[in-house]
Amino acid sequence: MNTILLGAQWGDEGKGKVVDHLSAKADLVIRFQGGNNAGHSLWVGGKKTVLHLIPSGILHPHTTCLIGEGVVLDPNVFIQEISQLQSAKVFTKASDRIKVAERTHLILPFHRALDVARETGAKGTKAHIGTTGRGIGPAYETKALRKGVRAIDLFLGESIFLEKIETLMNEYSGKFTADEFTELKKQTLKDLDYWKKILEPMLVDSTSFLMKNHAENKRFLFEGAQGVMLDLDHGTYPYVTSSSTTSPAAGIGAAYPKLTRSCRVLGIAKAYITRVGTGPVPTEMLGNHVEGELEVAENIRKLGHEFGATTGRPRRIGWQDLVALKYAVDVAGIDEMAIMKGDILAGMEDFKVCVEYRKPNGEKWNQFPSTVEDLADAKPIYESVKGWKVANSSDPDYRNYLEKIEKYLGVSVKYVGYGPEREQMEVR
Ligand code: IMP
Repeated sequence: MNTILLGAQWGDEGKGKVVDHLSAKADLVIRFQGGNNAGHSLWVGGKKTVLHLIPSGILHPHTTCLIGEGVVLDPNVFIQEISQLQSAKVFTKASDRIKVAERTHLILPFHRALDVARETGAKGTKAHIGTTGRGIGPAYETKALRKGVRAIDLFLGESIFLEKIETLMNEYSGKFTADEFTELKKQTLKDLDYWKKILEPMLVDSTSFLMKNHAENKRFLFEGAQGVMLDLDHGTYPYVTSSSTTSPAAGIGAAYPKLTRSCRVLGIAKAYITRVGTGPVPTEMLGNHVEGELEVAENIRKLGHEFGATTGRPRRIGWQDLVALKYAVDVAGIDEMAIMKGDILAGMEDFKVCVEYRKPNGEKWNQFPSTVEDLADAKPIYESVKGWKVANSSDPDYRNYLEKIEKYLGVSVKYVGYGPEREQMEVR
């Protein structure tokens, strides 16, 4: 079965592990949005691999991985990851295993500098998003501005490429001093030949590539990055990423929508909530919902290694939020769920699950709030679930928790992750 896999919370749900599991039965693994803001940690045979850009499915030797045109690609990071995988003997020739859609937009040094400058300037204000500083927002911004530079443009001839870079950067000339500007241009041009050498054998027209593979009955796995609550249209705007993270995005960001129409959509969530970056999270453990919750949060952060795989920032921790999760299931068209990291909570006496939001006047919210102002005011109403000893279906208390999630969301929990290793995954 072809699958679109999505994070159903604010990212970091444990998607890498599920992708790794499903890739065993996939021929093509496809990234369709985001860039190296993602960070998928995988444990195989006691060894940790963190991938930011190349699909996690690469660790299975039979797969081909495609980076679709919905992705924004930083060539320097891409090349670094290739060499990391080559050193780990994942492959010898990268172009045998990795393809890149010709129309993929590039993240250039100036996109990154712009992201960092904006975030630094906004520190301490409401405008501070807490981005990963990888140039993601600016790259999507210049794409929408119709001034972006695409992978295929590298091969247009040097003067045309140079002209494109000049036009693009001139849009932002007021943001940098003349010296900074010259330096950023120099940084962009210094590695051009190297970028071209690596990318040339990998470039494909994604539609014909996918159509051909579809005709050969290949099995597809679309690997989402970030999470539904970070979606540009449907997430907790403006504290979101700059791409679409829901299932229809797979048919846009890897251009063969006919294929994605018949996919099952699998949503990944943790047994609790985490979030990096700013913006309200109603169930965040800040010490004001339940006695001792700050200690609970600290414990979860430590046991669950809840520090950003991309930036190393400590993740904010919260109780499970079924209101947000139900919204994600509806808005992203999720058919089945995977619940990860219940093992981190094993041994707790009881655990809180948010089943309702209330307005400041005590009225119930019948929909997920559309503004972050309302979300910040939403008061979570909790139910307790009895703690469990083992985080898989062999434990009746964990089964009870999973059934509660299924009943609330109206979709089944198909996969349960109960440890970091490849084998620690139950298929129900
Ligand atoms: P950007 O995608 O770097 O622009 O960051 C925008 C928001 O999305 C920030 O809150 C980031 O922390 C968050 N974000 C981006 N990528 C990820 C991810 O892979 N996991 C979790 N949060 C992410």
